[in-house]
Amino acid sequence: MRLIKQLRLHFINFILFFIMDLFDKIEKNRGPLGKYMEVAEGYYMFPKLEGEIGPRMKFQGKEMIVWSLNNYLGLANHPEVRAADTEGTKQYGLAYPMGARMMSGQTNLHEQFEKELAEMVGKESAFVVNYGYMGIMSAIDSILDPRGRDVIVYDEESHACIIDGARMYSGKRFKFKHNDIADLEKQLERATKIVEENGVGGILVISEGVFGMRGDQGKLKEIVALKAKYQFRFLVDDAHGFGTLGKTGAGAGEEQDCQDGIDIYFSTFAKSMAMIGGFLAADKHVIDFLRYNMRSQIFAKSLPMPFVVGGLKRLELIRKHPELKDKLWENVNYLQNGLRSRGFSCGDSNTCVTPVYMNGEVEEAMAMVKDLRENHSIFCSIVVYPVIPKGMIILRLIPTAVHSREDIDQTLDAFEKVSHKLKSGQYRPAVNAAV
Ligand SMILES: Cc1ncc(COP(=O)(O)O)c(C=O)c1O
Repeated sequence: MRLIKQLRLHFINFILFFIMDLFDKIEKNRGPLGKYMEVAEGYYMFPKLEGEIGPRMKFQGKEMIVWSLNNYLGLANHPEVRAADTEGTKQYGLAYPMGARMMSGQTNLHEQFEKELAEMVGKESAFVVNYGYMGIMSAIDSILDPRGRDVIVYDEESHACIIDGARMYSGKRFKFKHNDIADLEKQLERATKIVEENGVGGILVISEGVFGMRGDQGKLKEIVALKAKYQFRFLVDDAHGFGTLGKTGAGAGEEQDCQDGIDIYFSTFAKSMAMIGGFLAADKHVIDFLRYNMRSQIFAKSLPMPFVVGGLKRLELIRKHPELKDKLWENVNYLQNGLRSRGFSCGDSNTCVTPVYMNGEVEEAMAMVKDLRENHSIFCSIVVYPVIPKGMIILRLIPTAVHSREDIDQTLDAFEKVSHKLKSGQYRPAVNAAV
Protein backbone atom coordinates (compact mmCIF):
# COMPACT_ATOMS: atom_id res chain seq x y z
CA MET A 1 0.00 0.00 0.00
CA ARG A 2 2.80 2.38 1.01
CA LEU A 3 4.69 1.56 -2.16
CA ILE A 4 1.63 2.35 -4.28
CA LYS A 5 1.23 5.69 -2.49
CA GLN A 6 4.89 6.53 -3.10
CA LEU A 7 4.66 5.53 -6.73
CA ARG A 8 1.57 7.71 -7.13
CA LEU A 9 3.43 10.67 -5.56
CA HIS A 10 6.39 10.17 -7.93
CA PHE A 11 4.01 9.96 -10.83
CA ILE A 12 2.29 13.24 -9.86
CA ASN A 13 5.68 14.96 -9.41
CA PHE A 14 6.74 13.62 -12.80
CA ILE A 15 3.61 15.09 -14.45
CA LEU A 16 3.96 18.41 -12.58
CA PHE A 17 7.51 18.66 -13.89
CA PHE A 18 6.09 18.96 -17.41
CA ILE A 19 3.22 21.34 -16.60
CA MET A 20 4.25 24.96 -16.94
CA ASP A 21 2.81 27.74 -14.90
CA LEU A 22 0.69 29.82 -17.28
CA PHE A 23 2.19 33.09 -16.09
CA ASP A 24 5.77 31.76 -16.45
CA LYS A 25 4.85 30.81 -19.97
CA ILE A 26 3.52 34.23 -20.98
CA GLU A 27 6.50 35.90 -19.36
CA LYS A 28 8.79 33.86 -21.62
CA ASN A 29 6.70 34.32 -24.75
CA ARG A 30 5.09 37.73 -24.85
CA GLY A 31 3.52 37.31 -28.27
CA PRO A 32 4.30 38.73 -31.73
CA LEU A 33 3.96 42.37 -30.65
CA GLY A 34 4.70 42.06 -26.94
CA LYS A 35 8.23 40.83 -27.72
CA TYR A 36 9.07 44.38 -28.92
CA MET A 37 7.85 45.94 -25.67
CA GLU A 38 11.25 47.08 -24.39
CA VAL A 39 12.15 48.97 -27.55
CA ALA A 40 8.66 50.07 -28.53
CA GLU A 41 6.72 50.97 -25.38
CA GLY A 42 5.59 54.59 -25.30
CA TYR A 43 7.18 55.46 -28.65
CA TYR A 44 6.12 53.05 -31.40
CA MET A 45 3.48 51.31 -29.31
CA PHE A 46 1.18 52.92 -26.76
CA PRO A 47 2.40 56.44 -27.68
CA LYS A 48 0.56 59.27 -25.92
CA LEU A 49 -0.88 61.97 -28.17
CA GLU A 50 -1.94 64.93 -26.13
CA GLY A 51 -4.04 68.04 -26.65
CA GLU A 52 -7.22 68.63 -28.63
CA ILE A 53 -7.85 65.92 -31.22
CA GLY A 54 -6.85 67.39 -34.57
CA PRO A 55 -4.20 67.50 -37.27
CA ARG A 56 -1.61 68.86 -34.84
CA MET A 57 -1.16 67.32 -31.42
CA LYS A 58 1.63 66.98 -28.90
CA PHE A 59 3.82 63.89 -28.66
CA GLN A 60 6.41 63.84 -25.87
CA GLY A 61 5.93 67.58 -25.46
CA LYS A 62 6.52 68.43 -29.12
CA GLU A 63 3.89 69.48 -31.71
CA MET A 64 3.40 66.93 -34.49
CA ILE A 65 1.33 66.73 -37.65
CA VAL A 66 -0.79 63.70 -36.88
CA TRP A 67 -1.70 61.19 -39.61
CA SER A 68 -2.87 58.27 -37.58
CA LEU A 69 -6.38 59.16 -36.41
CA ASN A 70 -9.52 58.03 -38.22
CA ASN A 71 -11.15 61.39 -37.52
CA TYR A 72 -12.00 61.51 -41.25
CA LEU A 73 -14.55 64.32 -41.20
CA GLY A 74 -12.95 66.23 -38.35
CA LEU A 75 -15.98 65.68 -36.15
CA ALA A 76 -14.00 64.79 -33.00
CA ASN A 77 -13.60 68.44 -32.13
CA HIS A 78 -16.44 70.03 -34.08
CA PRO A 79 -17.98 72.68 -31.76
CA GLU A 80 -21.52 71.32 -32.23
CA VAL A 81 -20.30 67.80 -31.44
CA ARG A 82 -18.50 68.97 -28.32
CA ALA A 83 -21.66 70.85 -27.23
CA ALA A 84 -23.87 67.78 -27.81
CA ASP A 85 -21.42 65.49 -25.96
CA THR A 86 -21.38 67.91 -23.03
CA GLU A 87 -25.15 68.34 -23.03
CA GLY A 88 -25.71 64.55 -23.19
CA THR A 89 -23.40 64.04 -20.25
CA LYS A 90 -24.90 66.92 -18.25
CA GLN A 91 -28.43 65.73 -18.78
CA TYR A 92 -28.02 61.96 -18.39
CA GLY A 93 -24.61 61.21 -16.86
CA LEU A 94 -22.61 58.23 -18.05
CA ALA A 95 -24.72 55.59 -16.35
CA TYR A 96 -28.11 55.95 -18.02
CA PRO A 97 -29.56 53.62 -19.13
CA MET A 98 -28.39 50.86 -16.83
CA GLY A 99 -28.47 47.27 -18.05
CA ALA A 100 -28.60 45.55 -21.42
CA ARG A 101 -30.96 46.82 -24.11
CA MET A 102 -33.28 43.83 -23.73
CA MET A 103 -33.54 44.08 -19.95
CA SER A 104 -33.54 47.73 -18.89
CA GLY A 105 -31.34 49.57 -21.40
CA GLN A 106 -33.87 50.69 -24.02
CA THR A 107 -34.69 54.39 -24.57
CA ASN A 108 -36.59 56.49 -27.11
CA LEU A 109 -33.34 58.14 -28.15
CA HIS A 110 -31.67 54.77 -28.87
CA GLU A 111 -34.64 53.98 -31.11
CA GLN A 112 -34.49 57.37 -32.82
CA PHE A 113 -30.75 56.99 -33.43
CA GLU A 114 -31.37 53.57 -34.99
CA LYS A 115 -34.16 54.92 -37.19
CA GLU A 116 -31.91 57.68 -38.50
CA LEU A 117 -28.96 55.33 -39.06
CA ALA A 118 -31.18 52.93 -41.02
CA GLU A 119 -32.44 55.81 -43.17
CA MET A 120 -28.89 57.01 -43.76
CA VAL A 121 -27.73 53.68 -45.20
CA GLY A 122 -31.01 52.88 -46.95
CA LYS A 123 -32.06 49.90 -44.85
CA GLU A 124 -35.34 49.11 -43.10
CA SER A 125 -33.97 48.87 -39.61
CA ALA A 126 -30.81 49.23 -37.54
CA PHE A 127 -29.39 48.06 -34.20
CA VAL A 128 -26.85 50.09 -32.26
CA VAL A 129 -24.13 48.03 -30.57
CA ASN A 130 -21.90 49.08 -27.70
CA TYR A 131 -18.59 48.14 -29.38
CA GLY A 132 -18.11 47.56 -33.07
CA TYR A 133 -15.68 44.67 -32.61
CA MET A 134 -17.99 42.76 -30.27
CA GLY A 135 -21.01 43.70 -32.36
CA ILE A 136 -19.83 42.24 -35.63
CA MET A 137 -18.36 39.12 -34.00
CA SER A 138 -21.59 38.52 -32.22
CA ALA A 139 -23.74 39.19 -35.30
CA ILE A 140 -21.77 36.52 -37.19
CA ASP A 141 -22.12 34.16 -34.24
CA SER A 142 -25.85 34.70 -33.83
CA ILE A 143 -27.00 34.23 -37.42
CA LEU A 144 -25.09 31.01 -38.02
CA ASP A 145 -26.38 27.58 -37.10
CA PRO A 146 -25.09 26.56 -33.63
CA ARG A 147 -24.88 23.00 -34.97
CA GLY A 148 -22.47 24.11 -37.68
CA ARG A 149 -24.57 23.37 -40.76
CA ASP A 150 -24.03 26.78 -42.42
CA VAL A 151 -20.83 27.89 -44.16
CA ILE A 152 -18.91 31.19 -43.90
CA VAL A 153 -16.90 32.48 -46.86
CA TYR A 154 -14.79 35.55 -46.09
CA ASP A 155 -12.01 37.67 -47.56
CA GLU A 156 -8.60 36.55 -46.26
CA GLU A 157 -7.59 40.12 -45.40
CA SER A 158 -10.64 40.77 -43.27
CA HIS A 159 -10.34 42.77 -40.06
CA ALA A 160 -9.59 40.79 -36.87
CA CYS A 161 -13.20 41.13 -35.67
CA ILE A 162 -14.46 39.22 -38.74
CA ILE A 163 -11.75 36.58 -38.36
CA ASP A 164 -12.62 36.20 -34.67
CA GLY A 165 -16.34 36.02 -35.50
CA ALA A 166 -15.57 33.26 -38.00
CA ARG A 167 -13.30 31.50 -35.48
CA MET A 168 -16.15 31.28 -33.00
CA TYR A 169 -18.19 29.29 -35.52
CA SER A 170 -18.07 25.52 -35.21
CA GLY A 171 -19.01 24.80 -38.84
CA LYS A 172 -17.04 25.18 -42.07
CA ARG A 173 -15.40 28.46 -42.94
CA PHE A 174 -13.55 29.20 -46.16
CA LYS A 175 -11.30 32.15 -46.91
CA PHE A 176 -11.10 33.59 -50.42
CA LYS A 177 -7.99 35.35 -51.72
CA HIS A 178 -8.19 39.07 -51.14
CA ASN A 179 -10.69 40.65 -53.53
CA ASP A 180 -10.26 37.70 -55.91
CA ILE A 181 -13.68 37.04 -57.38
CA ALA A 182 -12.58 33.88 -59.21
CA ASP A 183 -11.33 32.42 -55.92
CA LEU A 184 -14.52 33.53 -54.16
CA GLU A 185 -16.47 31.56 -56.78
CA LYS A 186 -14.32 28.51 -56.07
CA GLN A 187 -15.06 28.80 -52.34
CA LEU A 188 -18.75 29.38 -53.06
CA GLU A 189 -18.84 26.18 -55.08
CA ARG A 190 -17.30 24.25 -52.16
CA ALA A 191 -19.70 25.91 -49.73
CA THR A 192 -22.73 25.23 -51.92
CA LYS A 193 -21.84 21.54 -52.14
CA ILE A 194 -21.66 21.31 -48.35
CA VAL A 195 -24.95 23.06 -47.65
CA GLU A 196 -26.65 21.00 -50.37
CA GLU A 197 -25.37 17.81 -48.70
CA ASN A 198 -26.47 19.06 -45.26
CA GLY A 199 -29.83 19.98 -46.70
CA VAL A 200 -30.48 22.67 -44.09
CA GLY A 201 -27.60 25.16 -44.24
CA GLY A 202 -27.04 28.58 -45.74
CA ILE A 203 -23.96 30.57 -46.80
CA LEU A 204 -22.73 33.87 -45.35
CA VAL A 205 -20.21 35.84 -47.43
CA ILE A 206 -18.28 38.56 -45.59
CA SER A 207 -16.16 41.36 -46.98
CA GLU A 208 -15.27 44.93 -46.15
CA GLY A 209 -16.25 48.22 -47.76
CA VAL A 210 -12.68 49.47 -47.36
CA PHE A 211 -9.70 47.39 -46.32
CA GLY A 212 -8.06 49.43 -43.61
CA MET A 213 -4.41 48.58 -44.38
CA ARG A 214 -4.31 48.72 -48.19
CA GLY A 215 -7.11 51.25 -48.60
CA ASP A 216 -8.70 49.37 -51.50
CA GLN A 217 -12.45 48.86 -51.60
CA GLY A 218 -13.97 45.41 -51.36
CA LYS A 219 -15.39 44.37 -54.73
CA LEU A 220 -18.90 44.64 -53.36
CA LYS A 221 -20.67 45.10 -56.67
CA GLU A 222 -19.05 42.01 -58.15
CA ILE A 223 -19.84 39.99 -55.07
CA VAL A 224 -23.47 41.12 -55.13
CA ALA A 225 -23.62 40.12 -58.82
CA LEU A 226 -22.68 36.54 -57.82
CA LYS A 227 -26.06 36.26 -56.11
CA ALA A 228 -27.51 35.55 -59.57
CA LYS A 229 -25.44 32.35 -59.59
CA TYR A 230 -25.15 31.30 -55.94
CA GLN A 231 -27.46 31.40 -52.96
CA PHE A 232 -25.85 33.40 -50.12
CA ARG A 233 -26.31 36.36 -47.81
CA PHE A 234 -23.77 39.18 -47.79
CA LEU A 235 -22.40 40.97 -44.70
CA VAL A 236 -20.20 44.05 -45.19
CA ASP A 237 -18.02 45.74 -42.58
CA ASP A 238 -17.86 49.33 -43.82
CA ALA A 239 -15.91 50.85 -40.93
CA HIS A 240 -13.82 53.14 -43.16
CA GLY A 241 -16.49 53.69 -45.83
CA PHE A 242 -19.30 55.07 -43.68
CA GLY A 243 -19.22 58.88 -43.91
CA THR A 244 -16.36 58.93 -46.43
CA LEU A 245 -17.71 57.15 -49.52
CA GLY A 246 -20.86 57.46 -51.62
CA LYS A 247 -22.80 60.54 -52.67
CA THR A 248 -24.43 60.96 -49.26
CA GLY A 249 -21.68 59.33 -47.20
CA ALA A 250 -23.68 56.09 -46.87
CA GLY A 251 -20.50 54.16 -47.64
CA ALA A 252 -18.94 51.75 -50.10
CA GLY A 253 -22.26 50.16 -51.12
CA GLU A 254 -23.59 53.56 -52.18
CA GLU A 255 -20.28 54.39 -53.88
CA GLN A 256 -20.46 51.17 -55.92
CA ASP A 257 -24.22 51.40 -56.43
CA CYS A 258 -24.97 48.05 -54.83
CA GLN A 259 -26.22 48.94 -51.36
CA ASP A 260 -29.45 46.97 -51.87
CA GLY A 261 -27.44 43.79 -52.46
CA ILE A 262 -25.73 44.10 -49.06
CA ASP A 263 -27.90 42.07 -46.72
CA ILE A 264 -26.31 43.22 -43.47
CA TYR A 265 -24.45 46.51 -43.35
CA PHE A 266 -22.10 47.19 -40.44
CA SER A 267 -20.10 50.20 -39.37
CA THR A 268 -18.26 51.21 -36.24
CA PHE A 269 -18.70 54.72 -34.81
CA ALA A 270 -14.96 54.81 -34.12
CA LYS A 271 -13.95 56.45 -37.42
CA SER A 272 -16.01 59.09 -39.29
CA MET A 273 -18.34 59.38 -36.30
CA ALA A 274 -15.35 59.95 -33.95
CA MET A 275 -17.08 58.14 -31.10
CA ILE A 276 -17.50 54.64 -29.74
CA GLY A 277 -19.98 51.90 -30.60
CA GLY A 278 -21.32 50.78 -33.95
CA PHE A 279 -24.42 49.65 -35.79
CA LEU A 280 -25.86 46.92 -37.97
CA ALA A 281 -28.53 47.69 -40.58
CA ALA A 282 -30.70 45.28 -42.56
CA ASP A 283 -34.31 44.22 -43.21
CA LYS A 284 -36.47 44.61 -40.12
CA HIS A 285 -36.90 40.90 -39.48
CA VAL A 286 -33.12 40.40 -39.61
CA ILE A 287 -32.49 43.24 -37.15
CA ASP A 288 -35.24 41.89 -34.89
CA PHE A 289 -33.50 38.51 -34.94
CA LEU A 290 -30.17 40.15 -34.06
CA ARG A 291 -31.74 42.17 -31.24
CA TYR A 292 -33.08 39.00 -29.68
CA ASN A 293 -30.06 36.77 -30.32
CA MET A 294 -26.79 38.70 -30.22
CA ARG A 295 -25.15 37.50 -27.02
CA SER A 296 -22.77 40.49 -26.86
CA GLN A 297 -25.81 42.77 -26.55
CA ILE A 298 -28.10 40.57 -24.48
CA PHE A 299 -25.41 40.09 -21.86
CA ALA A 300 -23.75 43.54 -21.93
CA LYS A 301 -24.67 47.08 -21.04
CA SER A 302 -26.43 49.36 -23.48
CA LEU A 303 -24.54 52.27 -25.12
CA PRO A 304 -24.75 55.10 -22.55
CA MET A 305 -26.90 58.09 -23.40
CA PRO A 306 -24.18 60.74 -24.00
CA PHE A 307 -23.00 58.57 -26.93
CA VAL A 308 -26.52 58.42 -28.31
CA VAL A 309 -27.02 62.17 -28.00
CA GLY A 310 -23.54 62.79 -29.44
CA GLY A 311 -24.13 60.18 -32.15
CA LEU A 312 -27.35 61.86 -33.30
CA LYS A 313 -25.51 65.17 -33.63
CA ARG A 314 -22.67 63.60 -35.61
CA LEU A 315 -25.14 61.93 -37.97
CA GLU A 316 -26.98 65.21 -38.47
CA LEU A 317 -23.72 66.95 -39.36
CA ILE A 318 -22.73 64.22 -41.82
CA ARG A 319 -26.09 64.55 -43.56
CA LYS A 320 -26.36 68.36 -43.48
CA HIS A 321 -22.77 69.19 -44.32
CA PRO A 322 -21.55 67.30 -47.38
CA GLU A 323 -18.81 69.91 -47.60
CA LEU A 324 -17.02 68.04 -44.79
CA LYS A 325 -16.70 65.00 -47.04
CA ASP A 326 -15.75 67.24 -50.00
CA LYS A 327 -12.97 68.83 -47.95
CA LEU A 328 -11.77 65.38 -46.84
CA TRP A 329 -11.54 64.25 -50.47
CA GLU A 330 -9.81 67.46 -51.53
CA ASN A 331 -7.13 66.62 -48.95
CA VAL A 332 -7.02 62.92 -49.88
CA ASN A 333 -6.47 63.79 -53.55
CA TYR A 334 -3.89 66.45 -52.80
CA LEU A 335 -1.94 64.08 -50.54
CA GLN A 336 -2.17 60.99 -52.76
CA ASN A 337 -1.42 62.91 -55.99
CA GLY A 338 1.50 64.59 -54.23
CA LEU A 339 2.87 61.23 -53.12
CA ARG A 340 2.39 59.53 -56.48
CA SER A 341 3.89 62.42 -58.43
CA ARG A 342 6.97 62.15 -56.21
CA GLY A 343 7.33 58.50 -57.16
CA PHE A 344 5.79 56.93 -54.05
CA SER A 345 3.48 53.96 -54.35
CA CYS A 346 0.12 54.08 -52.57
CA GLY A 347 -0.73 50.64 -54.00
CA ASP A 348 -4.30 50.27 -55.12
CA SER A 349 -5.85 52.62 -52.58
CA ASN A 350 -8.97 54.27 -53.95
CA THR A 351 -10.16 55.53 -50.57
CA CYS A 352 -8.94 57.91 -47.87
CA VAL A 353 -6.65 55.27 -46.33
CA THR A 354 -3.22 56.13 -47.73
CA PRO A 355 -0.52 53.47 -47.43
CA VAL A 356 2.94 54.46 -48.62
CA TYR A 357 4.92 51.38 -49.64
CA MET A 358 8.67 51.28 -49.17
CA ASN A 359 11.37 48.63 -48.97
CA GLY A 360 13.40 48.02 -45.86
CA GLU A 361 13.79 46.02 -42.68
CA VAL A 362 11.99 46.52 -39.38
CA GLU A 363 14.98 48.34 -37.81
CA GLU A 364 15.15 50.73 -40.77
CA ALA A 365 11.42 51.42 -40.51
CA MET A 366 11.79 52.25 -36.83
CA ALA A 367 14.73 54.58 -37.48
CA MET A 368 12.84 56.29 -40.31
CA VAL A 369 9.75 56.85 -38.14
CA LYS A 370 11.98 58.24 -35.40
CA ASP A 371 13.55 60.63 -37.91
CA LEU A 372 10.07 61.69 -39.10
CA ARG A 373 8.99 62.40 -35.54
CA GLU A 374 12.16 63.98 -34.16
CA ASN A 375 13.33 66.01 -37.14
CA HIS A 376 10.20 66.65 -39.22
CA SER A 377 7.42 66.65 -36.59
CA ILE A 378 5.41 64.05 -38.52
CA PHE A 379 3.50 61.40 -36.58
CA CYS A 380 2.25 58.44 -38.64
CA SER A 381 1.82 54.70 -38.15
CA ILE A 382 4.20 52.05 -39.46
CA VAL A 383 3.27 48.57 -40.55
CA VAL A 384 6.10 46.01 -40.78
CA TYR A 385 6.78 42.27 -40.69
CA PRO A 386 5.05 40.04 -39.49
CA VAL A 387 1.88 41.99 -40.48
CA ILE A 388 3.28 42.36 -44.02
CA PRO A 389 6.06 40.37 -45.77
CA LYS A 390 9.69 40.74 -44.61
CA GLY A 391 11.53 43.58 -46.32
CA MET A 392 8.42 45.71 -46.80
CA ILE A 393 7.46 48.85 -44.91
CA ILE A 394 4.14 50.66 -45.01
CA LEU A 395 3.80 54.14 -43.61
CA ARG A 396 0.06 54.61 -43.21
CA LEU A 397 -1.45 58.07 -43.51
CA ILE A 398 -5.05 58.97 -42.66
CA PRO A 399 -5.94 62.36 -44.11
CA THR A 400 -8.88 64.20 -42.60
CA ALA A 401 -11.08 67.16 -43.49
CA VAL A 402 -9.23 69.30 -40.93
CA HIS A 403 -5.69 68.88 -42.29
CA SER A 404 -4.38 71.96 -44.07
CA ARG A 405 -2.40 72.31 -47.30
CA GLU A 406 0.55 73.32 -45.16
CA ASP A 407 0.28 70.05 -43.16
CA ILE A 408 0.28 68.07 -46.41
CA ASP A 409 3.11 70.01 -48.07
CA GLN A 410 5.30 69.68 -44.99
CA THR A 411 4.61 65.93 -44.92
CA LEU A 412 5.35 65.43 -48.62
CA ASP A 413 8.60 67.26 -48.17
CA ALA A 414 9.56 65.13 -45.18
CA PHE A 415 8.64 61.89 -46.97
CA GLU A 416 10.88 62.80 -49.88
CA LYS A 417 13.79 63.36 -47.53
CA VAL A 418 13.36 60.22 -45.42
CA SER A 419 12.76 57.95 -48.41
CA HIS A 420 16.01 59.21 -49.95
CA LYS A 421 17.80 58.32 -46.71
CA LEU A 422 16.11 54.91 -46.61
CA LYS A 423 17.15 54.14 -50.18
CA SER A 424 20.73 55.21 -49.56
CA GLY A 425 20.96 52.91 -46.54
CA GLN A 426 21.23 55.66 -43.91
CA TYR A 427 18.77 53.93 -41.57
CA ARG A 428 20.63 50.62 -41.51
CA PRO A 429 21.42 49.62 -37.92
CA ALA A 430 25.17 50.32 -38.19
CA VAL A 431 24.68 53.91 -39.31
CA ASN A 432 21.33 54.96 -37.84
CA ALA A 433 22.83 55.84 -34.46
CA ALA A 434 23.35 59.29 -35.97
CA VAL A 435 19.58 59.86 -36.57
C1 LIG B 1 -12.80 47.27 -40.24
C2 LIG B 1 -13.09 47.42 -38.77
N1 LIG B 1 -14.11 46.71 -38.23
C3 LIG B 1 -14.39 46.79 -36.91
C4 LIG B 1 -13.65 47.56 -36.06
C5 LIG B 1 -13.95 47.55 -34.59
O1 LIG B 1 -14.76 48.60 -34.22
P1 LIG B 1 -14.73 49.21 -32.74
O2 LIG B 1 -13.51 50.05 -32.61
O3 LIG B 1 -16.01 50.01 -32.71
O4 LIG B 1 -14.78 48.08 -31.77
C6 LIG B 1 -12.59 48.33 -36.58
C7 LIG B 1 -11.80 49.23 -35.71
O5 LIG B 1 -12.24 50.20 -35.17
C8 LIG B 1 -12.31 48.25 -37.97
O6 LIG B 1 -11.29 48.92 -38.51
